[in-house]
Formats: sequence, C-alpha cells, structure tokens
Amino acid sequence: PRRIGVLTSGGDCAGLNAVLRAVVHRAVEGFGWQVVGIHNGTAGLLARPVEAETLELNVFDGNLLRRGGTILGTTNKGDPFDYPMPDGSRVDRSNEVIEGYRALDLDALIGIGGDGSQAILQRLAQQGGIDLITIPKTIDNDLGHTEVSVGYDTAVKVATDAMDQLQPTAASHSRVMVLEVMGRDAGHIAIAAGIAGGADVILIPEIGYSLEGIAAKIESLKARGRNFALVIVAEAVKTETGEAVRQRQGDGSFTYGGIGHYLAERIAAVTGSETRITVLGHLQRGGPPTDRDRLMGSVFGVYAVDLIAAGRFDRMVAWNNRQVVDIPIADAIAGYQAVDVDGPLVHTARGLGVYLGEGIG
Ligand code: F6P
Repeated sequence: PRRIGVLTSGGDCAGLNAVLRAVVHRAVEGFGWQVVGIHNGTAGLLARPVEAETLELNVFDGNLLRRGGTILGTTNKGDPFDYPMPDGSRVDRSNEVIEGYRALDLDALIGIGGDGSQAILQRLAQQGGIDLITIPKTIDNDLGHTEVSVGYDTAVKVATDAMDQLQPTAASHSRVMVLEVMGRDAGHIAIAAGIAGGADVILIPEIGYSLEGIAAKIESLKARGRNFALVIVAEAVKTETGEAVRQRQGDGSFTYGGIGHYLAERIAAVTGSETRITVLGHLQRGGPPTDRDRLMGSVFGVYAVDLIAAGRFDRMVAWNNRQVVDIPIADAIAGYQAVDVDGPLVHTARGLGVYLGEGIG
C-alpha cells in the first residue's frame, strides 16, 4: 500500500475540508493507502520531528464535508524559498522542507492551493524529486485553465447574500450602500455577486471608472423614482488618481482594503446621498461550503488520488467543459485569469444597465 501526503496552502477558503474528505475516502477506502495530513502547508515540514506536525487522516467523522476552513491549518506567509525568520530576515529553507518530506516516507504529495502556492510546491517538487499533484482553490478565481477553483462559489454566495441584506436597509433609509469584496487583483467575486445581487454599480480592477459616471448612474436612478443604490467594489480597485488602497491589519501587515470607504465618501460628496460602507472581508472565506464547492471539492479530491494511482504527476486537476481533466502545473501557474472585459459577465452587466466604468483599467 502506498502512503501519500496532503496539505493545504495559502489563504483558506470554504471547501478545503470537502477536498480532504474526498482524498481520504478514495485513498483509504478505495485503494487501501495511508494518508498523512501535513499541518500549515509546507511550514509543517520544517518541524522536527516532522511527524509532530502531521495527522494521519483516516477518521470519517461525517461532518468534514460541511465544515469551513481546513482541519490541517494553512498559512500564506511560509514561502520556504523566502522564509520569514523571527528577526525579520528572509532565508531559503527549501532543503529543510524537502528533508522533512523525505522523513515522512511518502510516495506522493497532494497540494491544495492557488497560483502562488502551486508555484512554490512545483519548485520544491523539482528540487526534491517529489511526485506532486495540485488541486486549485482560491476565492479569487484567478487561476487559468480551470473553470472552477474551490472556494470561489462560496465567496460569491456570501457576497450575494450580503447584497440581499443591504438592499432593504438601503431602501428604508434612501441610502447608497457600498459593499467592498475580496478578490485580490481580480474582480471575479465583485462582478458575479454584483450581477446576482442586483448591483447598480460594479467596480472591478480590470475596468477604469469615473466618479462622474457613478454619480450619473445614481442620479438617473433617482430621476426614475429609485430612492437607493447598491454599489459593489472589488478590493483592488484604485482611487480616481490611480492609487492602490491598502488597509493596516491587526498584526500591522497591509493587504488590500479601504477602497469602499474612499468611494462612499466621494459618492456622498458628489451626489449628496447618504452613503454607508460594508467591508465583507474574511466572511467570504469562512462558513460552510456551498453545494457547488462541496461537489467540485469532492470531484477534485477523488481525481487527484486517481492520478497518483495512474502514476501521472506534475499535474493540476481542473474542470473544463463539464469534465474533470488534468493539466501541467506550469500551465496553471502561468495562466493568471483576470475578468475578461469582453466576456459574457461584463456584457451581461452592461446589458442590465449596470455602471461598470468606461475605461479598461
Ligand atoms: O487570496 C485570497 C484573499 O482572501 C484575497 O482575496 C485577499 O486579498 C487576501 O487573501 C487576504 O489575505 P489575508 O489572509 O492575509 O488576510
């Protein structure tokens, strides 16, 4: 029987546990293999003894499918090629990670991650001769060569639900509500939840906007008797003058955030409307996965184990044209996917009369 490792890497999202459950079912029940879960991504492989940061996955508690987060833990700060040390320096610890992997005596590794994590894992695999399979996950939906990444559907659902919650209070108070959503450099969450949640204005980093354009849309709604407006903005949208807005986090680090506050202030100043701002933040990553994320997580987990059984490595599992397929990890990493400004969602939003901006950002 074989012994395979599995880890989750980068920011968490809903559906990771559904993937883990599927891997365990297929490998343990289907093939009679052992599955070793590694804690906190590749950072877990730095522990000595390395077993201290692992967990044999063989218990089917019947609840894993439904649970948000990842029972293995994860981090987006542990790049082993540029590892942050407590004194602030950066050190290449890739060989230690590879030694840790070897000490676990594994036949193959499944890494669940976005583009950044997959790039790191592939580099480690090449350096250490590791037989690697990756599974796409990211709420940002910015991975190319797969129509589905685990976590995106749940993030869009949370954002759409937020739009549903905001509309009645917007209408009660005759306000303009600004909802800021995640997505890193891409506007996938904003455009999908904006359409599904009935936004009047959708701002994405891929398309430039003007405050005059936003104001004209709000004024035209008012002229037709509408007393409220819903604005959804992706976190990476810039100010009118092209500056990226970042927010200081609790630990002092800076990530995207704050553009919603900027816009709410500017919209109030230009239109005289009462505006309020909601930053959805990590609510988009937590919570139970949607049916779609459970389904695709299950499809990907089973197929990843099947690839190992077939001896096919250096592949990312993907979903395209109603089929589960596998593609070279290198293609996945190189295939960053922004919102297609000529694509069907932009066309749909414009067809619905949504203000999306004028320029290409
Ligand atoms: O990539 C996922 C994501 O949630 C982005 O949408 C967001 O910009 C970022 O991670 C937040 O990172 P952190 O986990 O460091 O708060």
